[in-house]
Amino acid sequence: MNSITLQRPFVWNERRILIEDRVLYVPALCDTSGFVFPGWDDTRIFGNTNPVHIEYCSGNGDWIAGKALANPDINWVAVEQKFPRTRKIWAKVKKHNLSNLFIVCGEGHITTKLYFPCNSVKVVYINFPDPWPKTRHAKNRIIQSDFMSEISRIMETKGHFVFVTDDASYSEWTTKIVLREPDFVASYPDPFYTTDESDYGYSYFGQLWRQKGKTIRHHKFQKIL
Ligand SMILES: C[S@@+](CC[C@H](N)C(=O)[O-])C[C@H]1O[C@@H](n2cnc3c(N)ncnc32)[C@H](O)[C@@H]1O
Repeated sequence: MNSITLQRPFVWNERRILIEDRVLYVPALCDTSGFVFPGWDDTRIFGNTNPVHIEYCSGNGDWIAGKALANPDINWVAVEQKFPRTRKIWAKVKKHNLSNLFIVCGEGHITTKLYFPCNSVKVVYINFPDPWPKTRHAKNRIIQSDFMSEISRIMETKGHFVFVTDDASYSEWTTKIVLREPDFVASYPDPFYTTDESDYGYSYFGQLWRQKGKTIRHHKFQKIL
């Protein structure tokens, strides 16, 4: 299935929040008042109560599609704000007939805050988010205190938050912000990451940075409250 076969379901002037063919569309600058999120177990999403794992910043979806194929009893949610990349994830859903992979085409923090239910997600992953390395651009990073408060709200107690990056400064930024939240503890001892996760799964950027000889930091935190 070619990714080009997924067309945007509306023109810009008529944009709205919509679930269609395994995608929740949450367009930017859109009136969000009329839409009620139906719950993960709704038949348009998963139609069952299996555990939910979310990946934010999924890119072209290699990593999450691989996980969904290998773990059919887990419900996987890919959150990706760019439509051309959403298309690529969607093509993988269709090619492998992945009824356990649902896509959210929207900005991660806004979508989470508006729609994702409390205590409903077992594991949250973020793999190689845009690093925004310049200090004045750090405000654009997805990891911020208010985003982590939302992540804590949607996560079940004892659930995990996994963050993977090649960028040392983003790794330190994330550690500081997450450990400021009273509900999270680090699963790895100081400096709170491991570089030894050989079976973690393939992603485009993970592969790229490994080939360039970069060190990959895998963080894991547990929600304890
Ligand atoms: C560097 S790519 C990494 C893609 C993939 N995780 C990988 O490892 O190959 C970062 C992706 O995050 C998406 N992204 C960045 N900020 C986002 C946000 N706030 N909400 C949703 N997606 C976001 C970008 O559009 C891009 O596709």
